[in-house]
Amino acid sequence: MRILAIESSCDETAIAILNGIDDSLRVESSLVRSQIDIHAAYGGVVPEVAAREHLEMITSMIARSVRPDGAGIDAIAVTAGPGLAPALRVGVEVAKTLAWAWKKPLIPVCHLEGHIYANWIENAPEFPVLALIVSGGHTELVFMRDHGSFERLGETLDDAAGEAFDKVAKMLGLPYPGGPAVDRLAAQGSPKAFAFPRPMINRDDAMFSFSGLKTAVLYELRKNDTRMADEAFRADIAASFQEAIVETLVEKTMRTAGKCMPKSIVLAGGVAANATLRDRLKEATEHRGMTMHLPPFQYSLDNAAMIGAAGYFRAVRDISADPLALVVDSNMDI
Ligand code: KG4
Ligand code: ZN
Repeated sequence: MRILAIESSCDETAIAILNGIDDSLRVESSLVRSQIDIHAAYGGVVPEVAAREHLEMITSMIARSVRPDGAGIDAIAVTAGPGLAPALRVGVEVAKTLAWAWKKPLIPVCHLEGHIYANWIENAPEFPVLALIVSGGHTELVFMRDHGSFERLGETLDDAAGEAFDKVAKMLGLPYPGGPAVDRLAAQGSPKAFAFPRPMINRDDAMFSFSGLKTAVLYELRKNDTRMADEAFRADIAASFQEAIVETLVEKTMRTAGKCMPKSIVLAGGVAANATLRDRLKEATEHRGMTMHLPPFQYSLDNAAMIGAAGYFRAVRDISADPLALVVDSNMDI
């Protein structure tokens, strides 16, 4: 089954063609056009600007990916939420129009489900699966007994992990998007330089909280405001902050895994691009005899191949929407 997948929930316009046979997926093409340069000037994503940029790019990207009559495409998958409503609407309206004109099934996909399914692109993880979702807007532990079965075991009470990376980056004067910049700076610093709190690490549940950690970084920076120009000091802050967040994520994930005993642990969302998190989680899972799956690096950040992967497993279960009635759900959750 060949799927055309469309993603426009935030600041990436993405189009992919994905071919699925049984449990095996092949990405035939994956185009991602990032708007980072445009939003960097505002210090964050401006929804109306994102929507305008999606509109400018989306049709030419689709034209590069498929024949004008849609020949060879069996279904169209599109991110219906969560995300920025004006941005989501562009992808959803284009997908609805193509599904209606080509008479193909329209498959709405949850963006978070897409991040999880990025892990199915190369090798299918064995069920049951425990997914750690760490994106700009979400931090969640989700248990899956099978395709399409999502049980949320825990989430953040305040900031998401990616949001904490972005806010700390801003405090350190790093450019948007902050996560990759903190990751790079941290590589030059000592993770033991500052003892930042590991929020809720000792609580025996799957809940997270990162706003206290962010505040602890802010106080440390205020205390040392004369050292802000010192690159080594800033690198130590970045490394110590990253260490606190990674240790908390890994500890909570492994504790939850000890309770629900998954066969596979999968990492999902933009923060999955973080090298330290990838290494640490892999180390911890191998230690306990579980199989760890990481999304291929190019499918960790927002892309449409992951939406195609999730869409494929929905399509084989015959889950589709009325092409004229689908509406955006910007608060959709798993
Ligand atoms: O999944 P994603 O691309 O967009 C959302 O669905 O939110 O995630 C974006 C988030 C941002 O907060 C970004 O700073 C973070 O992922 N991120 C990283 C890294 N690369 C992206 N955080 C830490 N280390 C990275 N290397
Ligand atoms: Zn995302």
